[in-house]
Amino acid sequence: MTGAPLLVENRTDRVVATLNRPEKRNAIDQEMIDALHSLCADLEAQPRTLIITGGAEVFAAGADIAQLRDRRAADARRAINATAFIRIAELPMPVIAAISGYALGGGAELAYAADLRIGSRTLRMGNPETGLGIIAAAGATWRLPEIVGHARASELLLTGRILDADDALAWGLVSSIHPADALLDAAHAMADRIAANDPLATMHTKRALRAPRHEHPGIERDLQAELFESDEKHRRMTEFLERRARRTDPPRTAPPSPIEEDR
Ligand code: COA
Repeated sequence: MTGAPLLVENRTDRVVATLNRPEKRNAIDQEMIDALHSLCADLEAQPRTLIITGGAEVFAAGADIAQLRDRRAADARRAINATAFIRIAELPMPVIAAISGYALGGGAELAYAADLRIGSRTLRMGNPETGLGIIAAAGATWRLPEIVGHARASELLLTGRILDADDALAWGLVSSIHPADALLDAAHAMADRIAANDPLATMHTKRALRAPRHEHPGIERDLQAELFESDEKHRRMTEFLERRARRTDPPRTAPPSPIEEDR
């Protein structure tokens, strides 16, 4: 697997995918995009939480500039990276980006496509595309304003400013920062919390969160209607109520009388 552009670890409730071109700072080339599509096909068929990471050193230093330089208008219209990132964002279960080191250009846009982003202290994140004579066309111009607001997205995209970990946290681009060697554990802890919940309720929550404004409130009504008919909802609520009832039940045997105890 050493030469594969994406290392994939399959578990029953999650998949950990590690971008694996360290010698090119995980620059995203066509082969990596193909591997991401294949991963998406697996996760569409068997929904699980996805943790996507680049390892401890670097998340991804952007689209592969060596390939990008030779692409022409027709390639731009095929939206090679954008299409893959949309597919990742639309995966049924949550996607967690665990970001250490550089996440630049297309690497940052891959992270913007995740539902949850956490970073390490070495995180450096931004979109230097205009410096290369192109725009950030794999999601940044519409996802970034949704994540950090229009003013901050404009600053990042129009100036090419690279944020460090503290600023990324302050701007809400990541939800927490961890030591680099604890980042993957933190991602797994998030996946553990997700795994403890009902998968269908999680998938429906993601759908409602991602639905455009005009679909609300109809969409959550329909999704909730489906869940209200589910056996799992009934089972989980019954379990909760019975647990409480057990806690408040009077003890079955009367405690020994203090007088008897004294004897
Ligand atoms: N595309 C293609 N190759 C890339 C790359 C990218 N986006 N980012 C890094 N690489 C390659 C370098 O060309 C170099 O290859 P080489 O050893 O064959 O010369 C190798 O990765 C290591 O890069 P280097 O610049 O020496 O590493 P560094 O640790 O000193 O710097 C970065 C890391 C990320 C700061 C720097 O590589 C960089 O600025 N990359 C481009 C970032 C960018 O503009 N991304 C937006 C693309 S849309």
